[in-house]
Amino acid sequence: MCGIVGYIGEKQAAPFLLDGMSKLEYRGYDSAGIAIFERGKIRIEKCVGRLDALKQKLASNLPEGTVGIGHTRWATHGRPSDRNAHPHANSNGDFVVVHNGIIENYLVLKEALVEKGHQFLSETDSEVVAHLLEENYDGDFEETVKKVLRMIEGSYSLVFLCAQEPNKIICTKKDNPLVIGLGQGENFIASDIPAIIAKTRRTYIMNDGEIATVTKDSVWVQDINGTPISKKVFEVNWNAEAAEKGGFEHFMLKEIYEQPKALRDTMTGRVTKDGKRIDFSELNWTAEEFADINKIFIVACGTSYHAGMLGKYYFEQLARVPVEVDIASEFRYRSPIIDSNCLTIIVSQSGETSDTLAALKEARRLGSRTLAITNVVGSSIAREADQVVYTYAGPEIAVASTKAYTTQLIVMLMLAIYVGEIKATLPEEKALSLVQGLKAVPEQIHTLLENIEQLKVFATQYGNSQDAFYLGRSLDYAVALEGALKMKEISYIHAEAYAAGELKHGTLALIVEGVPVIALATQDDVYDKTISNIQEVKARDAVVIAIALEGDDSIGKYVDHVIFVPRADKYLTPLLAVLPLQLLAYYAALTRGCDVDKPRNLAKSVTVE
Ligand code: AGP
Repeated sequence: MCGIVGYIGEKQAAPFLLDGMSKLEYRGYDSAGIAIFERGKIRIEKCVGRLDALKQKLASNLPEGTVGIGHTRWATHGRPSDRNAHPHANSNGDFVVVHNGIIENYLVLKEALVEKGHQFLSETDSEVVAHLLEENYDGDFEETVKKVLRMIEGSYSLVFLCAQEPNKIICTKKDNPLVIGLGQGENFIASDIPAIIAKTRRTYIMNDGEIATVTKDSVWVQDINGTPISKKVFEVNWNAEAAEKGGFEHFMLKEIYEQPKALRDTMTGRVTKDGKRIDFSELNWTAEEFADINKIFIVACGTSYHAGMLGKYYFEQLARVPVEVDIASEFRYRSPIIDSNCLTIIVSQSGETSDTLAALKEARRLGSRTLAITNVVGSSIAREADQVVYTYAGPEIAVASTKAYTTQLIVMLMLAIYVGEIKATLPEEKALSLVQGLKAVPEQIHTLLENIEQLKVFATQYGNSQDAFYLGRSLDYAVALEGALKMKEISYIHAEAYAAGELKHGTLALIVEGVPVIALATQDDVYDKTISNIQEVKARDAVVIAIALEGDDSIGKYVDHVIFVPRADKYLTPLLAVLPLQLLAYYAALTRGCDVDKPRNLAKSVTVE
């Protein structure tokens, strides 16, 4: 995610642009920049770091002009740096663009442009758009934009300036948000409402495929074929703080609901065009390279560690490579037996967790090859690892990790399928069915998120318990661990997860009348055993809420409540089963009046030992 702003009117553009970007920093803060028409030319000022760095740079030298655009970046392609900061321009600076999203085919387009003599300054996918505008400009800015949009593939919110046509800004979007604020003698453009709410509450919410030409007195919207589109004014009735959370009460809930998009973005460019196979050509892994990898270590902390536990199942069962999963703070001190025939996968949303970074350095010291799975481009872990696969979840603000977790899962599952095909350990039809299943997950999650009333009831009914137990076997056990962590870290209920088969070895002593037990029963191959464990706790009068697959019409007789998730391949159900657990924790925390986004004693990124 990135934050985009635009201004066209009679006042100086810079103050609105800078203020609007500050309201959008939750969408990204790796770098910031503005472009303003100043004395007939487009002046660009940008720098790496948070918006304050740009403000300091411009303190006594603000660009003067009444038309401009701005951008605060969340890096996806090209690490945070001055030259990768937006806005981007073509070589002579006549065409300037800010972009939020991913241009999937930018490499092909860039190669063709370089062959025509275009010189690129950045490593980003976005810069290619500015050069395409130059290459195709025929005196009509709107027509040029349409030509360029027919060439690019991927997701975008795009805002363009053209030096030859200084009295307008053009903007468009596909799969990323964009709004236009309607003022008097001035108009505003932004990725999100928080940036404009102080200026106007009258907005046009842009839809995919709409192209808007914005002047200080008009907004003209058309589609790519030139058909005019009449827009209804949307009156914003949120307050500024609510607007930053997209109307959600907390960032955590917003990020739970962002999961379908986060998963789609993370899969973008990693499934072949025919939709049949996984494509990690970004890694340049070959069969030979993997032939001598005889062990994988997955190392992480907290939620990322729980994701790594599922990674073990994926790599062992689909790619037939032995896997050890370690908590980073343990791994780094246990002198693991590692050599150059090992691959150590480091999982970290922030890419800055101290123990995880130290574990990565230890793995490298011992000769292991290393791969990082992280959500932050250019983070310490991303820079230290031999190779990186990014999740594209966008900034995760809430301390409790949700969308980062599910995007980590999907990256590891895709990697395991990919390695399974490289090593020929995964039958083609199984790989195909998994890829088909992967593509269905975002919509399945979306459906789950539309039906949460029952979860709210349970959270209220059991939210004042002091203890809660989460049970599961096989992949369900790894998901149970994650569910328990969500519950304990934001509701402060003493929630513990156990391998269901482990209960009789001690924990059963803690099961007393009325204690809530969340039992995951989505894994067919251990279903009967899980039912037995459920009966063990029911015999001690526990209250059992089961997470089960749609169509399971027998589990109801063993438990007090059932939350169903769509039936899917066993390797995919963790992506679905975790949803009710995230929401149960969220609503339980609300019931208990906890600070959901900033729970006590915790930090979003633990950069100390
Ligand atoms: C998860 O909800 C917690 N906030 C915490 O366990 C977190 O997953 C852990 O600190 C690891 O963070 P990282 O993924 O940024 O390395």
